[in-house]
Amino acid sequence: MKWHVQPSTIDGTVTLPGDKSIAHRALMLGSIAVGKTVIENLPEGEDVQSTARCLRDLGVPIVLQGTQAAVDSTGRYFASSSPLDAGNSGTTLRLLAGILAGQPFTTSITGDASLRRRPMRRVIEPLELMGASIRSAGGRAPLTISGGSLRPIRYVMPVASAQVKSCILLAGLYAGGSTAVVECFRTRDHTERMFAATGIELVEEDGSIRLEGGQRPRPFDVAAPGDLSTAAFFFAAAVLTGGSLTAMSCGVNPTRTGFLRALEEMGAGVHVAEEREIMGEPVADVTVASDSLSAMTVQPSEVPLLLDEIPLLALLATQARGVSFIRGARELRFKECDRIRAVSDSLTALGANIQEVDDGFVVTGPAPLHGGTVTSYGDHRLAMMLAIAGSVATGKVTIEGAEAASVSFPQFVDVFRECGGVLYVH
Ligand code: S3P
Repeated sequence: MKWHVQPSTIDGTVTLPGDKSIAHRALMLGSIAVGKTVIENLPEGEDVQSTARCLRDLGVPIVLQGTQAAVDSTGRYFASSSPLDAGNSGTTLRLLAGILAGQPFTTSITGDASLRRRPMRRVIEPLELMGASIRSAGGRAPLTISGGSLRPIRYVMPVASAQVKSCILLAGLYAGGSTAVVECFRTRDHTERMFAATGIELVEEDGSIRLEGGQRPRPFDVAAPGDLSTAAFFFAAAVLTGGSLTAMSCGVNPTRTGFLRALEEMGAGVHVAEEREIMGEPVADVTVASDSLSAMTVQPSEVPLLLDEIPLLALLATQARGVSFIRGARELRFKECDRIRAVSDSLTALGANIQEVDDGFVVTGPAPLHGGTVTSYGDHRLAMMLAIAGSVATGKVTIEGAEAASVSFPQFVDVFRECGGVLYVH
């Protein structure tokens, strides 16, 4: 599928589907709780559907009705006769691996070609230290996990990854004793917040997160907050095209709001109103308004707090006055595609002055973008970032492989048009 995007002003008020990271965790915690969990505002993107499918294949009764999921679980999984398919979703595979390591049977789990290229040693190593036995294709999926009762570990993480941290914390529920994770940089803490909200005690001290094995979550009802990483596309578009955009009921967990802080540093107006809490997660109505942009620097410790928004930040930097530095982001090379290569190649093709470095970008702006044909590299965030680039370019931008967007946000085209975007699908 191709998208053709023409210049326009992006403006308005949107209510976006629930946060993908929170939705994966809610389905998984609901699946190991005994009783009925109801999740509202579940995003309809393929990634979250992959988690629901894997859990169903493990015998968990899940009823999906539009954006509602009801999980009526006995808290037990049953061996699946065929390999589980996590699709394109790293969060599904890595988090579920932690729970599977605690099950007294063997499960294989795999995914699409992109997921099968991504590194899995980062979860294999700690789970094997805990006593699980895991076969892999040279450190990549498919993984065949033989689980059982686990040993607790204290694990100092070699990479900053919320998926790895969450995998170990989930496995820690099945370990006899106290499991601790030490992060090199703070990453998104949705797992910790949801554990606390469902009655699982954890202790955070001296940079480590510790929990006692044997605990299980209580069943719960939750309406997932709007996904800030989805809102970010529309915020960036408003800033770049002279508009103003409000996202209602949007998650503003401080381990996710690095993008809003970067926008402020660049000179955009950011206003957070009506802050409230849903299951330990801060939620607010967030408005971002355009202004003239200046360059910014992202420090390595900030990278996990705006990780998925870096393609958008690179785009914003192309239109900001001065030289922007985004460094310490080598992890982007291991996402749905090599996002450092893909972002710099595609923005260069549209006229940007962006230099790829090993761990990020150096961007000199402003450089007007022109029309052209670019590709999504099969990556949902690339497809949508390039559509935003099209709204600020001087000519028509064609994005090949645009169907990738449905992994996280199948409604992108409709919402983009509602906000004034000019996009034809073909
Ligand atoms: C996620 C963590 C991040 C992020 C991904 C979702 C999560 O990956 O990029 O989209 O839900 O835990 P890392 O594991 O690299 O932090």
